[in-house]
Amino acid sequence: MKSLRSLNKYFISYKWRFLLGILFTVISNYFAVKMPKFVQVSIDGLQKTGVSTQLEDALWLSFKIGGLYLLLSATKGFFLFLMRQTIIVMSRWIEFDLKQAIYTHYQTLDADFYKRNRIGDLMNRISEDVGQVRMYLGPGVMYSINLTVLTVLSLYQMAQISTTLTLFALIPLPLMSFIIYKVSNKINLASKHVQEEQSKISTLAQETFSGIRLIKAYNQFGPMSDRMENAANTYKQKSMRLMLINALFMPSIMLLIGLSTLIVIYVGGMLTATHQISLGGIVAFIFYVNNLTWPFVSIGWVTSIIQRAEASQQRINEFLDTKPTIANPSNESFVLTGDIVLNAVSFTYANTGIRALHNLSFTIKPGQHLGILGKTGSGKSSVLQLLGRQFDPNSGTIHVNGQALDGINLQDYRSQMAVVPQEVFLFSDTIRNNVAFGALDAVSDEAIIDVLKKAHVWHNIEEFPEKLDTPLGELGVNLSGGQKQRISIARALIRNPKLLVLDDCLSAVDTETEEIILNELRVLAQKPSIVFVSHRISTLRNCEQIIVMNEGEIIEMGSPEELMKQKGVYYETYHQQLNEDQSTDA
Ligand SMILES: Nc1ncnc2c1ncn2[C@@H]1O[C@H](COP(=O)(O)OP(=O)(O)OP(=O)(O)O)[C@@H](O)[C@H]1O
Ligand SMILES: [Mg+2]
Repeated sequence: MKSLRSLNKYFISYKWRFLLGILFTVISNYFAVKMPKFVQVSIDGLQKTGVSTQLEDALWLSFKIGGLYLLLSATKGFFLFLMRQTIIVMSRWIEFDLKQAIYTHYQTLDADFYKRNRIGDLMNRISEDVGQVRMYLGPGVMYSINLTVLTVLSLYQMAQISTTLTLFALIPLPLMSFIIYKVSNKINLASKHVQEEQSKISTLAQETFSGIRLIKAYNQFGPMSDRMENAANTYKQKSMRLMLINALFMPSIMLLIGLSTLIVIYVGGMLTATHQISLGGIVAFIFYVNNLTWPFVSIGWVTSIIQRAEASQQRINEFLDTKPTIANPSNESFVLTGDIVLNAVSFTYANTGIRALHNLSFTIKPGQHLGILGKTGSGKSSVLQLLGRQFDPNSGTIHVNGQALDGINLQDYRSQMAVVPQEVFLFSDTIRNNVAFGALDAVSDEAIIDVLKKAHVWHNIEEFPEKLDTPLGELGVNLSGGQKQRISIARALIRNPKLLVLDDCLSAVDTETEEIILNELRVLAQKPSIVFVSHRISTLRNCEQIIVMNEGEIIEMGSPEELMKQKGVYYETYHQQLNEDQSTDA
């Protein structure tokens, strides 16, 4: 129950609703226990008067009794309705709060966290697990309160009629509690297995949908279906086991309740012989025992709800307790005006232990264009990750404006940089919203069109009937790779960044288009520092400074002219690509 304690703060914030719910439960149960009592009095009354009075009078009495009984039922029902309306509604409110809290927390967590956790699991936290916890907050709590109140009130009323009979009627209870405890443990274990299988199916389904094009292209329908069938089969088997235990549970409880009734009739009958209890008393007793049936059966159910919620909340807490390793260390406002200096920076990815960068030192001056050239896997993207402080270096330092990067206001810093990642990601939204996503404030259509023109993609968009309203993504149009890259560039430009980072983002456009875009970038009004990452010399040849990387280290650094003179990797690559161009031109 330790994990569920973290939910207490929600109960406190909804305390009035909660207390009202408890009050309604008490009132509704008060009427519930009055009803058998009323039956008892009526039967005893009828029994006494029945012989001496007229038939008409007896009928009238029955009618009165019936009416009053109906009234009691209606009142009880009304408060039952209010009880549900308060407590169940409270659980929905808390569910909402909890989802918000988890989602907000997810967004603060760093890149490393998302490497360590699968998307399917993250989704399950926010849907499945919160759902389980909600079952505890609503029905779980409600039935627990109801059970307690009803038991206390009923036992009191029963004891008033006959203490002896009450004790006898309670005999099967310890046995029942024991069975409930044993069985619900089994149920929990089984439902944990079911949940795990459910999680696997979700992940598989999700991967199938995202990879559907690949699956079709590779004709992998059969194997994929087999995998799904296996997963679904395991799920079915585990579910059936759960159903079996569940199905055995109810009848055994019913049997014990039946035993209680039997005891009441037998022992009660013997007690009437000695006039220790009236006939009405026995009838009332049977009512009480039956009234207690459902609440006692629900003990097992509630126990399993609580245990499941406990497991789910434990998982939720694990996530909520995960502290981002990259936090915002300062609220002081920060404006990027000076150099960005890397000094002897080394970096190893914690999850794989791959050493991506080793002993890197270089400086980006304000407004400078820096090129990074290097073979695949040489660490180019990793450098950019460090520049955006998605990760912190393991050793060495990064300074901006002379201040340590891990000491400045991260939000301010990131608001002044724009990244065009290597793998384009566009949201399932309109082109307008995809571009405006990069902006810090609300932007006009003119501004959006302006950056789309700079990214040399507006002439394509103009031809779409819906222009800026064209939807992208799953249900939208399919753009070409190059078009996507250029929209992604426009998204960065609308930010008016001081530092613009372009990770190989012109790879899918032809050299002619590339040239047009590069020319636009060169004359940007706000003169940002730009870091270009590319495999192509043509992208980099106008940079003031170029770094050539190999296996995480800088092997050459200088202006393009200097690098040409050095006759190293840059020089070789230059000639190699020149030859390729000429041979394709020929
Ligand atoms: N998120 C990550 N987790 C673990 N290892 C990673 C991660 N990203 C990259 N690596 C590893 O770090 C090394 C450098 O990768 P990086 O992505 O920086 O190369 P790159 O120069 O950008 O390559 P490319 O030109 O193919 O984009 C590679 O060995 C890669 O496997
Ligand atoms: Mg890369």
